[in-house]
Amino acid sequence: MLEQLEQIKAEAQAALEKVSDLDALEAWRVAHLGRSSPLMNSFKQMGGLSKEERPKVGQRANEVKVALEAELETKRAMLKQAALSASLDEEQLDVTLPGRALVRGRLHPITQTLRRIYAIFAEMGFQVYRSREVESDDYNFTFLNMPPHHPARDMWDTFYTSTEGVILRTHTSPGQIHAMREFHPDPIRVILPGMCYRYEQVTTRSEMQFTQVEGLAVGKHITLSDLKGTLTDFARRLFDDPNVGTRFRASHFPFTEPSAEMDVECFVCGGKGCSVCKQTGWLEILGSGMVHPTVLRYGGYDPEEYSGYAFGMGPERITMLLHRIDDIRYFWRNDLRFLEQF
Ligand code: PHE
Repeated sequence: MLEQLEQIKAEAQAALEKVSDLDALEAWRVAHLGRSSPLMNSFKQMGGLSKEERPKVGQRANEVKVALEAELETKRAMLKQAALSASLDEEQLDVTLPGRALVRGRLHPITQTLRRIYAIFAEMGFQVYRSREVESDDYNFTFLNMPPHHPARDMWDTFYTSTEGVILRTHTSPGQIHAMREFHPDPIRVILPGMCYRYEQVTTRSEMQFTQVEGLAVGKHITLSDLKGTLTDFARRLFDDPNVGTRFRASHFPFTEPSAEMDVECFVCGGKGCSVCKQTGWLEILGSGMVHPTVLRYGGYDPEEYSGYAFGMGPERITMLLHRIDDIRYFWRNDLRFLEQF
């Protein structure tokens, strides 16, 4: 019986040598220390031994069991360590590899131009005033000194809705009336940015929808020189050139009197004449004028006491000039090859 125990032990140890992973170790444990293993069976056979033999065999069987259990634990620790270092080797990271670049979004070029315009006017004390894109005919035309059937309405090809008198604004100027009616009788200094809509043939130079930034100042002593000074300063800041040349050309808008368009010296050729300025040396960038007395009255301000100036510009056009973009349709086409350049 003792010999048999030695053999059981030797066999178990030999088998343990060959175990090379944790699964095999578990199988070994079941085979050599499990309930129906030879060692455990030898405990069951103990009853058939003589009184003298039983304690000796029992003691030895226990010793074998304790020894095998100890070897099992040693082996288990070894295998775990080996598995750990294997996985560390396998999953090793090369921290010197270049990272994967994150794809970053960016602002639409028009948004960038708008923000630049807001920043410049904010420094001059103008606040942003938002007004609606769906307008009434009255705000878009009548209150701007264009009563029904006024021929000047033809300057703006209009999107009408199925509701009588409800249209999409053709310019941001109706916001002037909203601002005046809200601010009255306080002085006003606002810019009114937003989307405008015109029922027009889409070409390289005109889109059905586009943004505008309107400006409005109303107060008790506002003069044409305030208008010129503000817009000249704006142009210098926009084109980042304190010496940029500007000129005002007489023009006509029903809601301003007098009216003027502002040109800036062509920054491509410096005024000499090139294809961007069509050989004139000048680039038109906005329309402006002194708020017409009729418009002031519609806004609730007495033109005997108050005066004001207004202007309107197209950020698409400005962006096209700044970046020499030759087709306005790029802005709405959402082609990443275009957008990613900004
Ligand atoms: N609303 C005019 C346009 O769309 C621009 C403008 C605004 C002109 C304010 C004068 C004063 O063409």
